[in-house]
Amino acid sequence: MGRLSGKVALITGASAGIGRATARLFAAEGAHVVVGARRRGELDDLAAEIRAAGGQAAVLAGDVRSEDYARALVAQAVERFGRLDIAFNNAGTLGEGGPSTAVSETGWSDTLAINLTGAFLGAKHQIAQMLRQGGGGSVIFTSTFVGHTFAFPGMAAYAASKSGLIGLTQALAAEFGAQGVRVNAVLPGAVDTDMYRSNNNTPESQAFVTQLHALKRVARPEELARSVLYLASDDAAFVTGTASLVDGGVSITRT
Ligand SMILES: NC(=O)c1ccc[n+]([C@@H]2O[C@H](COP(=O)([O-])OP(=O)(O)OC[C@H]3O[C@@H](n4cnc5c(N)ncnc54)[C@H](OP(=O)(O)O)[C@@H]3O)[C@@H](O)[C@H]2O)c1
Repeated sequence: MGRLSGKVALITGASAGIGRATARLFAAEGAHVVVGARRRGELDDLAAEIRAAGGQAAVLAGDVRSEDYARALVAQAVERFGRLDIAFNNAGTLGEGGPSTAVSETGWSDTLAINLTGAFLGAKHQIAQMLRQGGGGSVIFTSTFVGHTFAFPGMAAYAASKSGLIGLTQALAAEFGAQGVRVNAVLPGAVDTDMYRSNNNTPESQAFVTQLHALKRVARPEELARSVLYLASDDAAFVTGTASLVDGGVSITRT
């Protein structure tokens, strides 16, 4: 029996990186998964891989900035698998970086629209479904240490959007705890994904980021997936409202 046997899970940002690894792990642990992102081809490949391994997966491509997409992902979970128990709102972007005095209004707004508003719209419809089912469920957001325990120059929109998710986590956890809906944020350190490599595209930059971590390495996406599995599962039955650092010690390291 898998740790998510009989559960239905929705994962955004599943076309790559942390979301993809988490969708694979959730399915291997017995969950029926609905996977979302904009790139349909990558989602189809992932779903085929999950089915080949004996799991069940449904695909719905779209953009998390759209409330219609948030609604449709939940509808897909219900139509295909009958319910929704777990939602991992993980889609995200670094957005427009660089000196904050030069960040455009569009760049700022778009970063917030994807990282913060998109996650809120997702949770809005996911929690509504959980309540229709009689309550219970686990909602997880992907935040980051950036803007919470550590600041990098030139990442204002990213930091603000991601620390906004921590406030959102607390607000929703307080609002829906009585109905058994748990809401948590996972805060990764650096994880070796396309996003990490696009932001750290030289050996020097990768070495700099690596040495900031107490463990003197960055994470593999599968390591994050394990922590998200914990928050999704009944092992975390009394865990809600947390900002859960999975950061290789980047937050406590000064040397
Ligand atoms: N890697 C790190 O070091 C690190 C550290 C802390 C936190 N995080 C967070 O972890 C999450 C996953 O990132 P990752 O590192 O796995 O990077 P990634 O490999 O670049 O994955 C990002 C995912 O988000 C999706 N996405 C982006 N914009 C979207 C939009 N508008 N609508 C729908 N989906 C969208 C992408 O899919 P499409 O392009 O197909 O839409 C992709 O699946 C992000 O929220 C990121 O901020 C990453």
